[in-house]
Amino acid sequence: MILPSLLAADSGHLADACRRVAGSGADALHVDIMDAHFVPNLSFGPDIVAMARRNAPALKRHVHLMMTQPDLYAMRFIEAGAATVLIHVEVSCDIAATLAEIRTRGARNGLTLKPATPAESVFPFLGQVDEVLVMTVEPGYGGQSFMETMLPKLAAIRREADRQGRPDLTLMVDGGIALDSAVRCAAHGANAFVAGTSLFRLDDMSAGVAAMRHATQDAYGRALRA
Ligand code: DX5
Ligand code: ZN
Repeated sequence: MILPSLLAADSGHLADACRRVAGSGADALHVDIMDAHFVPNLSFGPDIVAMARRNAPALKRHVHLMMTQPDLYAMRFIEAGAATVLIHVEVSCDIAATLAEIRTRGARNGLTLKPATPAESVFPFLGQVDEVLVMTVEPGYGGQSFMETMLPKLAAIRREADRQGRPDLTLMVDGGIALDSAVRCAAHGANAFVAGTSLFRLDDMSAGVAAMRHATQDAYGRALRA
């Protein structure tokens, strides 16, 4: 799956950006929600998710909650049209209960980890999540450089998911993803790629999405078998 990140769009033309992503062949629109507590930045709220639904109804909305209290807000994002809601494993709310509630309300759920958080932190939840997102930059800002040191974490999560009988787990990366970094992540077991800056700066986003899809499909799992 390829998911362009709305954070990289021109904030004066967000509706156009949603239509552009919908026409690019991407699998979903990634929407970053920052609360100025969990990360030192502010971004979007539920109204932006509803705006995306209005302007590009067929495009799934994939919501990444960088919030200290995701349990209090996840349902508002589902009501606004989120197809998937991800929460961070570092927060202090009841993670299992929040993941369960997201599913009960009809959305896919997922857990995400900051760069310093070990792979093992998500292992106890692998039976209850649709997706795991490994942050490949420090969350909070777009346009940062990919952290190569996250590759072993991807491999560890993919291996453990296979061991726990979850070969269907969506393993996603987010931060500094361009064609070359996406290929390295795919080789280590990632099968879903969030990309902001690298896709939005292209004249032809469709070509970028297609290229990333083909190159990552080709590279998938190569480093795990080696
Ligand atoms: C960072 C966000 C990312 C961001 C990625 O905190 O979670 O989704 O949009 O942006 P790029 O692809 O520019 O690194
Ligand atoms: Zn994100």
